[in-house]
Amino acid sequence: MWLTSSLAKMYILFTIITSLVCYLILKWMKMRRYCTDLKRLDGKTVVITGGNAGIGKETAVALATRGARVIIACRDVDKAEKAVREIKIRGHNVNVHHMELDLANMRSIQDFCKTFLQREKRLDILINNAAMPSVLDWTEDNFSMCFGVNHLGHFLLTNLLLGRLKDSAPSRVVTLTCSNYKYQKLDFQDLNYNLLPFFTYCRSKLANIYFSQELGRMMEGKGVTAYAVHPGYVQSSWTDHYSILFRMLVQVIMFMFFVPCEMGAQTVVYCAVSDEAAKHSGGYFTDCQPTTLRPFARDAGVAKKLWEASERLVKLA
Ligand SMILES: NC(=O)c1ccc[n+]([C@@H]2O[C@H](COP(=O)([O-])OP(=O)(O)OC[C@H]3O[C@@H](n4cnc5c(N)ncnc54)[C@H](OP(=O)(O)O)[C@@H]3O)[C@@H](O)[C@H]2O)c1
Repeated sequence: MWLTSSLAKMYILFTIITSLVCYLILKWMKMRRYCTDLKRLDGKTVVITGGNAGIGKETAVALATRGARVIIACRDVDKAEKAVREIKIRGHNVNVHHMELDLANMRSIQDFCKTFLQREKRLDILINNAAMPSVLDWTEDNFSMCFGVNHLGHFLLTNLLLGRLKDSAPSRVVTLTCSNYKYQKLDFQDLNYNLLPFFTYCRSKLANIYFSQELGRMMEGKGVTAYAVHPGYVQSSWTDHYSILFRMLVQVIMFMFFVPCEMGAQTVVYCAVSDEAAKHSGGYFTDCQPTTLRPFARDAGVAKKLWEASERLVKLA
């Protein structure tokens, strides 16, 4: 009797200690740096693609709080209006607006830029945040969905707004990528690769890195700097694109290992405002610091080749 009760006590104690240790390890794994640069952005204009959800919305709140004029560029007007109301309240800033943009449609990108350039005198910070996760689909212009939205859409958008960015110098282009870039390489014979969903996403995120490098190089001495940001693994709404079963499964993993959107936005904000970051134009950033890429992802020749191929695909060349 005595033996059973002390065994039970030991079992309970063991369970409590193990749970506490697991909790502390998970908490430590999720620890991230906050952007400590408190620079204000009064008088500056910021465009954030996909600013109606996830990391984009948190970035919008953070930059609105610093006094910027924030324009979220979104494809769904209802979601955008709801997000604008929330960003205004949370950012204590009424200078928050939305404009329609569908990155899966080149016509929509051209219309967005035309309207933006007519209406807005400045563009100080462009945040290429929107993305499609690992899905197999095609854009309006017959590009693979991930490559088309995540890379080509932002490539065209940035190029059409580059003049205004130069006029507003010093200005910045922050492009969201993902550390999963390392699982794939680009195949120039098949840039629109659309076979395994996860790999299409990885390739598009690798393209985001080459894009930032080449943009950084091209804009050297012109007052426009470029940054590629891996925000960490973040509890955002990317799972909305999948079945309910997948979402339920991933929710548990996300809860345990992924960080909240506010934390995911920190490196984006850091690259948007920090003087320290500005010393590393074209660089890759994680956790509010420049980070080394795998050697193949630092290949300036590939970055240039991708830039030229992208110009042909979006008919800029
Ligand atoms: N979450 C992570 O763990 C993680 C990890 C590494 C990198 N990232 C990167 O971080 C960025 C933000 O991701 P997130 O996790 O915040 O994703 P999210 O919650 O799914 O938000 C994505 C945003 O992109 C918009 N979007 C998608 N397709 C679009 C299109 N064709 N035109 C315009 N907007 C479009 C979405 O609009 P709708 O609401 O209309 O769909 C949404 O606002 C992405 O570039 C992603 O690759 C995220």
